[in-house]
Amino acid sequence: MDLIESAAAAIRLGELVIMPTETVYGLAADATNPEAVGKIFTAKGRPENNPLIVHVDSVAMARECVQEWPEIADRLASAFWPGPLTLVLPKSPLIPATVTAGLDTVGVRIPNHPVALELIRRAGKPIAAPSANPANAVSPTRVGHLSDPILAAVAVVLDGGPCEAGIESTVVRVAADGVVILRPGAVSRLELAEVVPVFDREMTGPARSPGLGERHYSPRARVEITFSLSPDDCGLTFGPASLHQRTMPSDPVAYARELYDALHELDARNPDVIRIEAPPQFPEWEAVWDRLRRAASR
Ligand code: TXA
Ligand code: MG
Repeated sequence: MDLIESAAAAIRLGELVIMPTETVYGLAADATNPEAVGKIFTAKGRPENNPLIVHVDSVAMARECVQEWPEIADRLASAFWPGPLTLVLPKSPLIPATVTAGLDTVGVRIPNHPVALELIRRAGKPIAAPSANPANAVSPTRVGHLSDPILAAVAVVLDGGPCEAGIESTVVRVAADGVVILRPGAVSRLELAEVVPVFDREMTGPARSPGLGERHYSPRARVEITFSLSPDDCGLTFGPASLHQRTMPSDPVAYARELYDALHELDARNPDVIRIEAPPQFPEWEAVWDRLRRAASR
């Protein structure tokens, strides 16, 4: 039996599995099994008020998870799926309240990774998966980033190589006339705006994703954002790197791809502080800035 088949069997039995996606690695369970989903919250130490994203292998499966499928959702799915865009829509009874943290909406996406797609297809179920890190820690973008407590909680680890996008999906609330960005991510605001109207904030309901606590995506070390690094600083730079540093790409997409790997690498050296040279304040850097601010907030 190959590993994807073992993982699919584990999912059907209500076990947890490490699933690669194009954004970050996920801690996966059968989204229709509340007990299995409960194991995700326990393994991560995740607050129960933070809903999970449901991964599907087709628009047909996405539609089974939701109550309504507006025309805007079709446009977004054709433009961005499979890919790093999560659509928040009213949930159907197929999805238990554990997944959505009691909300009447659910976030769904088709991941753009052949292993994830094959796992969902063989499990024959929508798969709930948060990033496979302990709550508030830096998300894993390689199997080597997985922590021991997470590894101890899973039945199978599927290694899909380094994640292509390197930061999480963009989460949007889908309305009849456009979308609201709840979490910036791998699909930029500019890319979204080419397809649908993007509004600044919701008129009603919570303005942000629940569980988007200020402190998030944090290494063990304190993180500071700075305008200049000295050669003795442990950190991320755009210039030539000293022994304690890593040179980051000047393009926002390539920067995002490397960010978590760089944080994992530097944090493993046990510094007190990781200093990060501030990227430009341009719209294409919105998602990177979001993660840097959260990593730096205490
Ligand atoms: O790229 C990703 O999105 C990765 C991979 C594994 O797919 N997953 C991920 O999951 O980042 P997680 O649990 O780390 O973050 C999910 C985000 C949270 O900010 C959560 O609040 C939001 O999505 N979210 C999920 N369901 C929601 C809902 N019904 N309404 C509003 N926000 C929701
Ligand atoms: Mg996460």
